[in-house]
Amino acid sequence: MADTTIPERIPINLVVNGERRTLEIVPWTTLLDALRDRLELSGTKKGCDHGQCGACTVLVDGRRVNSCLTLAVMKDGAEITTIEGLARDGTLHPLQQAFIDHDAFQCGYCTPGQICSAAGLLAEGHARDADEIRELMSGNLCRCGAYPNIVAAIEQAMSRS
Ligand code: FES
Ligand code: FES
Repeated sequence: MADTTIPERIPINLVVNGERRTLEIVPWTTLLDALRDRLELSGTKKGCDHGQCGACTVLVDGRRVNSCLTLAVMKDGAEITTIEGLARDGTLHPLQQAFIDHDAFQCGYCTPGQICSAAGLLAEGHARDADEIRELMSGNLCRCGAYPNIVAAIEQAMSRS
């Protein structure tokens, strides 16, 4: 007879937007579901849930990752930054301000992932011009076609960082 025992939940610790959070999860919980469903941080979006759209991008220990492809248990102890954690003391992150300045969103669904990914891109320091921004942001899809404004916003933030 098949073993139908439900696996035990596993305790993990995450430092999310500077705050230590402890949660117990079944082992297959993705980081995306842990953030959205368990920690109620719904800014990070679920688009494809298959690693193809970038809507779920967050920063893990400063590097951008697709949280839908990442098991939360693999990130026990990690520092996670979501879109909710980018503003500081009531001041928008320069990328958030630049997205507003350049009208770089339409429906806004991809925007949190775009901004988190752009924050990772700036930290990586590899992009030097618009073409390289486009290439290094190619994992983030926008169905509305706001790309020119997104690139302009990232260029602005890059020039000021
Ligand atoms: S929801 Fe993760 S890449 Fe699309
Ligand atoms: S702003 Fe609508 S999908 Fe990007």
